[in-house]
Amino acid sequence: MGMEAQRPGNSEPNVRLHPKPDETTQASSTTQEASSIVAASEHMGSFDPRKTLNPAADVKIDVTNADFFYGKKQALYKVSLPLRTRQVTALIGPSGCGKSTFLRTLNRMNDLIPNTRVEGQALFDGQNIYEKNVDVVLLRQRIGMVFQRPNPFPKSIFENVAYGLRIQGKSQSLIKEMVEKSLHGAALWEEVKDRLNTSALGLSGGQQQRLCIARALAVQPEVLLMDEPCSALDPIATLKIEELITQLVKEYTIVIVTHNMQQAARVSHFTGFFLSGKLIEIAPTTNIFERPKQKETEDYISGRFG
Ligand SMILES: Nc1ncnc2c1ncn2[C@@H]1O[C@H](COP(=O)(O)OP(=O)(O)OP(=O)(O)O)[C@@H](O)[C@H]1O
Ligand SMILES: [Mg+2]
Repeated sequence: MGMEAQRPGNSEPNVRLHPKPDETTQASSTTQEASSIVAASEHMGSFDPRKTLNPAADVKIDVTNADFFYGKKQALYKVSLPLRTRQVTALIGPSGCGKSTFLRTLNRMNDLIPNTRVEGQALFDGQNIYEKNVDVVLLRQRIGMVFQRPNPFPKSIFENVAYGLRIQGKSQSLIKEMVEKSLHGAALWEEVKDRLNTSALGLSGGQQQRLCIARALAVQPEVLLMDEPCSALDPIATLKIEELITQLVKEYTIVIVTHNMQQAARVSHFTGFFLSGKLIEIAPTTNIFERPKQKETEDYISGRFG
């Protein structure tokens, strides 16, 4: 499954976060509704992604002209976007627009689906992720993934987190250390430290999802891909995952697919809007919700379709 790791990330946005009064009067009706989405983020705990937005952060994965095909059916068209280091990039758009497909190109999970093909480039440390000769096992350690439904293995809590490390042949003492560290990293340690040898399937849905995050973290990834990680969770468990994302981004580059625009506003620095397999627009999240440049983006965030 997935995993992650890092790079330098500065702070302080270089962009204005709110329109000037004269811009407000020119703004379309979209911005009022969308502003309430951004305003919602202001009541969400102490984290405010606008304060740590870094439009100049290094690009961790630079995607250029990604095309993707399921057999003859094309699902992505010339998608180009930078995924910036130690920033959260949210991907939004209506069902079927290609968000998951795109996310899965980044760690080659689509390879598991027969008759699929990707073209274009996704440069990760100078190497094109889409090249045939990429070592996908190593790639998936460096670029971890968390899925919509928590998918712990039917093993103990400890062994779930230890899984990737055992495959790597790490020593028992290192495994023990990394399991504890990863469970701390996934904000789960306190809840499970007394039951590490019990089945992971006995955990709540939210705990299982954090366990899957711990499992990804254990192999020290650099990037974490999350495909609607909260869609199967209740609001409290969702909040915990969102808080966790805001902690993890200090070390990891995160890409999250979400249907929940409030969630995108609460956790992400950048938002990309997909429609019919195309990336319509990507920008700092506040810009997408308050001043979208494209009419399609405006229509979507104001609830006119999707
Ligand atoms: N395994 C597959 N085989 C064939 N077509 C597929 C497959 N998976 C997805 N597709 C198609 O590719 C397109 C993009 O699907 P994808 O799952 O990436 O969309 P999505 O934006 O993640 O949607 P959702 O929000 O519903 O999860 C859709 O038309 C979908 O039907
Ligand atoms: Mg999807």
